[in-house]
Amino acid sequence: MPIENAGFLKARGIIERSAVALTLADLDAPDAPLILANARFERLTGYPLAEVQGKNCRFLQRADVPANAAARAEIRRAIEAREELQVVLKNHRHDGSSFDNLLFLNPVRLDGRDYMLGSQFELAELSRAMARAPAHAVALSDDLARIAEKADRIQMSHRRHLADTAAFLVSRWAG
Ligand SMILES: Cc1cc2nc3c(=O)[nH]c(=O)nc-3n(C[C@H](O)[C@H](O)[C@H](O)COP(=O)(O)O)c2cc1C
Repeated sequence: MPIENAGFLKARGIIERSAVALTLADLDAPDAPLILANARFERLTGYPLAEVQGKNCRFLQRADVPANAAARAEIRRAIEAREELQVVLKNHRHDGSSFDNLLFLNPVRLDGRDYMLGSQFELAELSRAMARAPAHAVALSDDLARIAEKADRIQMSHRRHLADTAAFLVSRWAG
């Protein structure tokens, strides 16, 4: 269990109040369980925090989606190396409907413990995704900067770079 002192409490407050979907996984526990998920995550996926706490976030995937294999390998590598990553995954909501998820992962060390912050952005209509994904990246950058104030370590690229990466991944997703 995480120790609830300054760094963790600061991060929890920011996650709870965020304008974007955010999740926090404990990398020092076996199989990186989720310990936090905010209201925007619940609105996107249909899963409330109580239902996802303690689970690895792969429950959003269906076992039979080969398109996810490369993305999952990249995620495993990023978690192992404690590196940031942006990647697109095929996911399913609580009601079974599918969506394409632009996932942002940023490692953060709080109170001597390693976590990964995950932010989910739904890719649906192209023009909307083009317009909103960079803004999502900027909002995430602002949250990360606030978490960084009380973090031992955080890996985050410059907000401009993150916004450009989001725009690039949207155009690649569009084919
Ligand atoms: C903080 C965090 C959030 C994640 N969010 C998602 C998500 O929204 N959707 C998803 O399919 N996978 C998500 N993942 C990735 C999976 O939990 C898992 O790491 C990935 O599937 C690779 O591992 P596996 O091949 O063992 O399943 C997230 C991981 C972390 C650490």
